[in-house]
Amino acid sequence: MTSDAVTLIRADHRIMADLLDQLRDPTGDRAPLLDQLAARLIAHGRAEEQEIYPAIVAVAPAETDEVELGIAEHRETERKLRVLQSLNPAAAEFMPALRDLTDTVRQHVEEEEVSVLPELARLFAATDLGELGAAYDRRRRAELRARGVDDEMAEALRERG
Ligand SMILES: [Fe+2]
Ligand SMILES: [Fe+2]
Repeated sequence: MTSDAVTLIRADHRIMADLLDQLRDPTGDRAPLLDQLAARLIAHGRAEEQEIYPAIVAVAPAETDEVELGIAEHRETERKLRVLQSLNPAAAEFMPALRDLTDTVRQHVEEEEVSVLPELARLFAATDLGELGAAYDRRRRAELRARGVDDEMAEALRERG
């Protein structure tokens, strides 16, 4: 399934929010959830950085600061993810670290959905958004495969949502 870049990115945001939510359950099997979350956060960020952000800057150089902020927030997210991965899920530090990561991801996603994605939709015609979406999805899937994650769960969630 391919779709436009805005739809695909929003769908990924929902999947990551869902995984962050599931990780709060202390009775859940957190290790595989955390592996899924880590792979998806990294794959999503890299696909945005390689396919989406440069396309925005190419047609709207005034967006450079916004895009650079987005990249810095991806690095911050990855740093907080590594902190979380270093902790035993049963340890007292796990929940505060999960909240910290969740806040950072939530804030970044909100900025993208309120500002970056509407700008993307404004800058590109529907056919170009479709091509950007396909490029984004190829890159994201390649990054996921490199981390041993297949995308069936994402497809299932998209079909459900
Ligand atoms: Fe992002
Ligand atoms: Fe995003």
